[in-house]
Amino acid sequence: MKSDATAEPAGNWAVPLGGDALFTWDYDAGAEQMLSLYSRGKQRQWDAETRLDWGHEVDPDNPLGLPDTFIWIAGTPLWERLPEAERITVRRHLAGWLYSQFLHGEQGALVCAAKVVQTVPDIASKFYAATQVVDEARHVEAYQRMLHDKIKVHYPISAGLRGLLETTIGDSRWDITYLGMQVMIEGLALASFSIQRDRMRDPLARALNAYVLQDEARHVAFGRLALRDYYGQLSTAELREREDFAVEACWVLRDRFAGEDMWRNLDYGADECVALANRSPGQREFRRRLFTRIVPTLKDINLFGPRMREALRELGVLGFSRVDGAETSAEDERIADDIAALELAVRQREVSAAVARGAGSDDAGKDDAGKDEERPK
Ligand SMILES: [Fe+2]
Ligand SMILES: [Fe+2]
Repeated sequence: MKSDATAEPAGNWAVPLGGDALFTWDYDAGAEQMLSLYSRGKQRQWDAETRLDWGHEVDPDNPLGLPDTFIWIAGTPLWERLPEAERITVRRHLAGWLYSQFLHGEQGALVCAAKVVQTVPDIASKFYAATQVVDEARHVEAYQRMLHDKIKVHYPISAGLRGLLETTIGDSRWDITYLGMQVMIEGLALASFSIQRDRMRDPLARALNAYVLQDEARHVAFGRLALRDYYGQLSTAELREREDFAVEACWVLRDRFAGEDMWRNLDYGADECVALANRSPGQREFRRRLFTRIVPTLKDINLFGPRMREALRELGVLGFSRVDGAETSAEDERIADDIAALELAVRQREVSAAVARGAGSDDAGKDDAGKDEERPK
């Protein structure tokens, strides 16, 4: 039975927190790279309320401006059989399912970042992680607003994401929380958000994801910095446990994000839809972007022994180890800066035009323009 799935889920989900909260008495932080990441984290905060143009009206039938190539069943005989009204339902529900998972994932990141503040041993990392807590809260706010005000179709957390978050938050070893969140789940976020930024037609969806990605690039850099040294010191047996965790997460990320629960709800034959989704060009692009982010990071943090390489070969993604992960992150930062600069320029032109129109007759236009100056359109 198809449901509109518009009710926002209520209640709490309890996940036991593993591990100890660590204090340090060494306040002389020292770690230069971590401190510079902390500085960037402080300086590059942005406010979704003012940075984004929430007055923009999305197309209610296709709130993201989702091209058909990213509808996982488009171009198949099943899609051809669907009347236009059902295709609109698919566009709305796919947007709702995706942004619901983004929202729940961001809340997971918020909870994980807060745990990292408590469990990380050194003060510089605690400083940095505190900026990430605020980043993730702002992301939750932004995706919630997009979902609630613009998309208006809600889904509960998917089984794949729920399982990943549970093992990541619940593990008592601090580095597993880092590995699960900063490398694996952030990798999922980077792949999904970059598709939104680059492929959707709606300007609000594009801008929102560009700004979020800029923050996520710092988060992944933190994971790399924090884990690189630690994994260089572990025994073979300890490394094997981390590799097994990462490999398991890779399989889940590859196979469990095709919207199973959404297809069950839409009721066009869920098994067929999931099979079609898994073979679709949109999912192929998602996986390519996913492993472009994850594999270079695994190599960088020294989690790249023979077992790991064999598992990645089996997944068909070993070749991504040649990608420069730091360069990909730098590119995310540049794109967000470009969009912000472009939007500010457009806004300033509009402000100048409004001022020119209102000159000599009414000062109210100037006041309004000045108030909004921080918000590019
Ligand atoms: Fe985030
Ligand atoms: Fe993040």
